[in-house]
Amino acid sequence: MRILVLHGPNLNLLGAREPEIYGTTTLAEIDARLREIAEADGHVLESFQSNHEGELVDKLQSAVRDADGVVINPAAFSHYSLALRDAVEAIDVPVVEVHLSNIYAREPFRRRSVLSGVCVGVVAGFGVDSYVGGLRLLISRLTA
Ligand code: DQA
Repeated sequence: MRILVLHGPNLNLLGAREPEIYGTTTLAEIDARLREIAEADGHVLESFQSNHEGELVDKLQSAVRDADGVVINPAAFSHYSLALRDAVEAIDVPVVEVHLSNIYAREPFRRRSVLSGVCVGVVAGFGVDSYVGGLRLLISRLTA
């Protein structure tokens, strides 16, 4: 299977950004861990981070051609990007939403994700393991 992992704005700062909330693991370390897990099972994993909504929309659209499933941490776009929601809805590719933090236990404006309703599922609150769990759940759905 071909898995696309998308990271939204400010996630390039992981490791240094609010470590008490997001941990100390860098984005490169997360990507390396996910690639290792996917490859150990014979899958191919591509990861992409952008601070720009349109670039993430483009990448989601390209998943129709280039991926069998997507793991996305939309970061702040989770809470208001109808463009990302529409892109997820438009593609016939399963998308799993992940968050490092438990967005439901944080400020009110973070407690709603406009993407969740069009994703196959959400994993939030487990730090890097949210990504690991999201990836494993996506793979088991794709290979069931
Ligand atoms: C986040 C939660 C969002 O509210 C925040 O804007 C992020 C990261 C998370 O992984 O916990 O940038 O998506």
